Amino acid sequence: MKNKFFSFIGKPVERVDATAKVRGEAFYGDDLIFPGMVYARAVRNPRPRIEIKKISDKKAREITGYLGVVTYKDIKGVNAWPVVMKDYPFLPEKEARFHSETVALAVAETLSAAKKAASLIEISYKELPFIDDPLKALEKNSLKIYGKDNIFSSYTIKKGNAIKALKECDFVVEGEFKTNYQVHCYLETQTATAVPEKDGSLTVYSSTQCPFYVLDAVSAATGLPNNRIKVIQTVTGGGFGGKEDVPALVASHAAICAMKFERPVRLAYDRKEDFMSMSKRHPSWAKVSYGADKNGKLKACVVDYVLDGGAYSTLSPIVLWRGAVHAAGPYKIENVFIEAKAVATNKVPCGAYRGFGQPQICFAQESLIDDLADKIGMDPIEFRLKNILKTKDETATGQKLDSSCGIKELIEIVRDRSKWIKNTPTSIGDKKRALGFSCTYYGVGLGAGGRYLDRAGAFVNIYKDGSVKVDVGNTEMGQGALTVLSQIAAETLNASMENIRISEVDTSKVPDSGPTVASRTTLMSGNAIIEACAPLRERIFLTAADMLKTSGQKMFAYGGYFYFKDRKVSFSEVIRECWGRRLKMSEQGWYVAPKTSFQKENGQGDAYVIYSYSADVADVEVDVKTGEVQVKKIYAAYDVGRLINPKLAQAQGHGGILQGMGWALYENLVIKNGIMLNPNFTDYVLPISTDAPEYDISFKEKLYKYGPYKAKGMGEVPLIGVAPAIRNAIKKACKAKINSAPMTPEIVLEKIGEEI
Ligand code: MTE
Ligand code: MOS
Repeated sequence: MKNKFFSFIGKPVERVDATAKVRGEAFYGDDLIFPGMVYARAVRNPRPRIEIKKISDKKAREITGYLGVVTYKDIKGVNAWPVVMKDYPFLPEKEARFHSETVALAVAETLSAAKKAASLIEISYKELPFIDDPLKALEKNSLKIYGKDNIFSSYTIKKGNAIKALKECDFVVEGEFKTNYQVHCYLETQTATAVPEKDGSLTVYSSTQCPFYVLDAVSAATGLPNNRIKVIQTVTGGGFGGKEDVPALVASHAAICAMKFERPVRLAYDRKEDFMSMSKRHPSWAKVSYGADKNGKLKACVVDYVLDGGAYSTLSPIVLWRGAVHAAGPYKIENVFIEAKAVATNKVPCGAYRGFGQPQICFAQESLIDDLADKIGMDPIEFRLKNILKTKDETATGQKLDSSCGIKELIEIVRDRSKWIKNTPTSIGDKKRALGFSCTYYGVGLGAGGRYLDRAGAFVNIYKDGSVKVDVGNTEMGQGALTVLSQIAAETLNASMENIRISEVDTSKVPDSGPTVASRTTLMSGNAIIEACAPLRERIFLTAADMLKTSGQKMFAYGGYFYFKDRKVSFSEVIRECWGRRLKMSEQGWYVAPKTSFQKENGQGDAYVIYSYSADVADVEVDVKTGEVQVKKIYAAYDVGRLINPKLAQAQGHGGILQGMGWALYENLVIKNGIMLNPNFTDYVLPISTDAPEYDISFKEKLYKYGPYKAKGMGEVPLIGVAPAIRNAIKKACKAKINSAPMTPEIVLEKIGEEI
């Protein structure tokens, strides 16, 4: 079907949740009030690593309204949070492993009493030696804080013989790269409320991307079976990966408190607590080598990639895997050797952040590829075009790209739009300006790294009045999922947009649909909705044809109406007739992603079902006197398959670019001797609207045959290539090669100094 025949797909439909959010009518986690509700407040580890001797609430008992303290002894289930591995206790028993880890919780009638009580609860402890540097943690004689080698997880990807091939290359470059944390800075901090019900079951309200992770964790912590817990996602004020793992911990804490005191319990973090204890983008270290022959053909790539996992593993294994799989970049290379490790340190545990482990390695790899082009004396875009992955080529894991690969076109689009050909640095006074390039690919969904989770359910229920309720298991967190999924449902049923209602997830209504991560929602939940709608569509269309007396001739269905000759019936009229005929008006959909063949043992095989692509040109101005970098304009092009909603896709581009820019230039979390020094919006600098560059965003819709209306995934890809494009532009403008992020003015100045 062509775009013009779609009623809603490909149209800039307004966000279905816009009005409620703009008017302040949306209920976020901390807006909900329950009769008899009390408040919990975390008591946190005061040092980087301690042995807990005793917890005393003697002084807290003086506080009016104080109800009591909750420790690991109150856990009715098992004291192990089920994430990927089970090394993170809900509450520590003998040892707390990072500064600000929740050790106990104070519960009181009011928030202020809970805060006061928490500050008076005393932890007696013995301080233990700690590690804060992942590279030191890897040294042979290092202090061991996890297993026998401090390694949470490791991967090797090997194709050909890269070490040997590198030696035979005419041009070789090698570089060491470092990136820092990135804090999600979602506007709504972590918030959960656990409400004990009269029948002994529990309802949990959680600001989360992954309601089913919350379900699993609360079930483990309380010992209640899944069917006695209902997790309801509250309207979520941003996630960006930061509400993937940790809401399960926060909700479990609220649930343990609620079970103990048999009262509804609210646990909402303030900004400082959120900064200090919630997962972040992993700091990374990478050593990369690339080699090419004299014609500029890439021959070998060797990568050593290390992620600083923090004190517990949480999502590190998955984040690491994604980085490892993509580490050689979107190029055709015969010889690849990638080694990747996620390492334990006594710092805040790291998890997912938009891009999921890929921006870090992409910064290294896309910077070094640019340096290799310089060394060969080729234009960086020409060099990339010569080596770029095309349909039928194989990735580093030997995955043959059989369709929907638009990266070459994307490169050409941004090259042309940015007038790259004229990319010679200009200078006015102390300000030097130039363009920089990068391109990336992104495996949509969890792929082989989480293949058992790549499925999703949907339940579609059409009421007699024609209104439609769709329940899905993936969440809205700002990205526009409710709108995009409503468009898919409306299109498939030929309902009008107004007839469709999708709301936040309730785990008692849909089967476990996996996490809302890895830009998988449109693809997975979209397909599940189509599957549920398909039999309904058939019944509705047959009934409409009957009503219009088409006698087997073709009718026309568009925008919630059915047409035949001069006759017309609306979706709601047809639904009334369907009910009159006692037709089944509800269906379940269940979508399972195609198989992936990647094997951990040899690091080869199909890693993901499909890839999205991006290309970026950054137009950057450097003040060589102050080291300040201003991003003037970003030219970006994306291939995310069919655009379900072009307006929302543009918005995802804007947000992703700005976050990528923040990580590249400004955001600098400082942890010294295991303690975070700037856990607030004053000292942790984020880009704001006035820092935003001009955006020039284009799309190339390379259709994906198994996608819903042939869409892929959009949410993360805009962030990934921004930092290296900026880095390469700074290099072009003033010759400073900066191999670490953030590229703060101090660092830029230092590097400019080295060049002079
Ligand atoms: N956009 C907004 N406004 N808010 C968010 O929290 N999260 C990002 C991205 N875009 C996010 C966002 C991340 S980390 C992911 S994985 C995807 O959206 C998830 O959405 P999708 O699965 O619908 O693509
Ligand atoms: Mo996104 S980091 O996959 O939640």
